[in-house]
Amino acid sequence: MIAVIGLGFVGLTTGLGLAHRTGQPVFAYDADEYKRELYKSKQIPFYEPQLQEHLELYEGNRFIVCDTMVETVAQADIIFICVGTPSSSSGETDLGDLRRAVIACLDALAQLSQPQHYPVFVIKSTVPASTTTDVIQPLLQGRGYRIGENIGLASNPEFLREGSAWHDFVQPDRIIIGELDPIGAQRLKELYVNFGVPIHCVSAHTAEFVKYASNALLATMISFANELSMIAKRIGSINIPQVFHLLHEDKRWQGHPAKMTDYVFPGCGFGGYCLPKDTLSLYAHAEQYGHEAVMLKAVLQVNEDIKSHIVEQIAAAVLPEETIGILGLSFKPESDDVRGAVSRDIIGLLLKRGYSRIVAYDPLAMDNFRSAYGLPIEYADSVEEVVERSQVITIITAWRDFKDKKNLYNGKKIIDGRHFL
Ligand SMILES: NC(=O)c1ccc[n+]([C@@H]2O[C@H](COP(=O)([O-])OP(=O)(O)OC[C@H]3O[C@@H](n4cnc5c(N)ncnc54)[C@H](O)[C@@H]3O)[C@@H](O)[C@H]2O)c1
Repeated sequence: MIAVIGLGFVGLTTGLGLAHRTGQPVFAYDADEYKRELYKSKQIPFYEPQLQEHLELYEGNRFIVCDTMVETVAQADIIFICVGTPSSSSGETDLGDLRRAVIACLDALAQLSQPQHYPVFVIKSTVPASTTTDVIQPLLQGRGYRIGENIGLASNPEFLREGSAWHDFVQPDRIIIGELDPIGAQRLKELYVNFGVPIHCVSAHTAEFVKYASNALLATMISFANELSMIAKRIGSINIPQVFHLLHEDKRWQGHPAKMTDYVFPGCGFGGYCLPKDTLSLYAHAEQYGHEAVMLKAVLQVNEDIKSHIVEQIAAAVLPEETIGILGLSFKPESDDVRGAVSRDIIGLLLKRGYSRIVAYDPLAMDNFRSAYGLPIEYADSVEEVVERSQVITIITAWRDFKDKKNLYNGKKIIDGRHFL
């Protein structure tokens, strides 16, 4: 049976949604007595489409609002924690409610004469990566439980949107399970199997982080659009909604998966003739009109930081007298253009740090790179030669050939700057 702790937007939707999709009884508890009474009389203290009818349908049968935590967890083999995780005054996540809710569940379990064998705690609240392992796990261990032996623990972030919470919960894009023990993960997989959507078991940290990645991306896109609207206003005579409607007609937003996903993917930075120069140009142009485009400035700064970050990784993997292999010199695959190429900057930073043994290979761009930059490095005739001669190999351009030959890298230190192997 299922227990849900914390009955706000997420907890109420989770409880009713699981009752609906799994047919299992859900025992639900909120610390707020007023809310419990409302739910028991089939009323909801906020507006959210489709919840009212499902509360009317399931309250008292499949969805049982309990007055005590003991009643709630007594028969539960999965306990979903859905309490709020607001910002504290310093901006960090306030985990107070989360801690209190888990402790109250543990107190309740301790009061049971016949507690469930192997209850599984599932953190559905949005929490910073590492919270489940570093904050929740110790609470369970402090009560003598051992994850994987007599208790389960998992992260299972929620992606519902207010206004379409019911639809988003019962028909999610995917289910993400941050796995800490196989029994807990298996139980969640079985619970969600009828949802008929992809279920991904990942590390708990990854699951927690995806939720922040998702919201931070949305926030970034909104602020990007707003920054451009402020620049446009200063310049004048720019119809900014039209700009964005036209932008949306870019085919890269369409299709499945949309080509735009290539851009929203980590790597070792953007390069080429256009993105660096045009972003810088827009930043400088806005400045002329008295507007500091802080996002564009940050975009350019991050593009420098990521190159230094890759260089740090290489430096940590290689001794100064060893050889560094560079795979890829063009700014992107299927091109021999090396203008603004990330490879130039990364090699430049390595040379500056005293790494003089660098051997590079690119299927198309070696001649252009050699004549454009004249850097004191060696050039190889093949991927095989780079692998043969280097102690650490860094992939900078995502040429298909480098992926097809990945077996060559076995036993070598490899820094995959494009995360594509
Ligand atoms: N609102 C959203 O759209 C949304 C979407 C996805 C994820 N989330 C995340 O889900 C979590 C819950 O969000 P929400 O919007 O449902 O919050 P909420 O504030 O609406 O609800 C939280 C509920 O938990 C209850 N609660 C607090 N402490 C408790 C305790 N110790 N024991 C039992 N109940 C307790 C509160 O009384 C409240 O009813 C947050 O971490 C939030 O970031 C929210």
